Amino acid sequence: MLNQDQIALEKNKQACSWFGSYGIVPHLAGVVNAKKILEIGVAYGYHADFMCTVLPGITYVGVDPFQANYDPNDIFCYDVQRLFDAVDSQNAMDRLFNAVSSNLKKFQGRASLEKSHGLLPISFKMRVLILCISMVITRTRAL
Ligand SMILES: C[S@@+](CC[C@H](N)C(=O)[O-])C[C@H]1O[C@@H](n2cnc3c(N)ncnc32)[C@H](O)[C@@H]1O
Repeated sequence: MLNQDQIALEKNKQACSWFGSYGIVPHLAGVVNAKKILEIGVAYGYHADFMCTVLPGITYVGVDPFQANYDPNDIFCYDVQRLFDAVDSQNAMDRLFNAVSSNLKKFQGRASLEKSHGLLPISFKMRVLILCISMVITRTRAL
């Protein structure tokens, strides 16, 4: 059964505009016949859910600091705080980590989430690049 935070995450999908780019990773994974995907910057876990659903043979690892106010120019932490109606920003990010971890359990060990500490904020483009590189490395090691 879903808890309140998982329900809030599910409802938030309607308001999220990130889905338009999600098809690119399964496409690239197919090109390199990837077996593992490392996502740097997991946020709501929507992309993780999408990739694990459309790529049933993949093992997924997500890494994210889930750290409040990691970048003063990024409104993401404020959005999370508002989503959970939380007074404390770090509490909201901790709840997000727990809710995303719970959502990934349905993939029965194929998907895991790591809370990373001490990482510098990195741009979205850089995260996409790292994601692509990590898929190519995984493919190369599998050969
Ligand atoms: C734009 S969201 C990620 C969106 C997600 N990849 C998707 O496609 O749905 C940005 C995320 O990056 C995380 N982040 C910021 N700096 C990071 C870093 N140095 N390493 C890993 N994650 C980071 C933030 O905590 C936030 O959850």
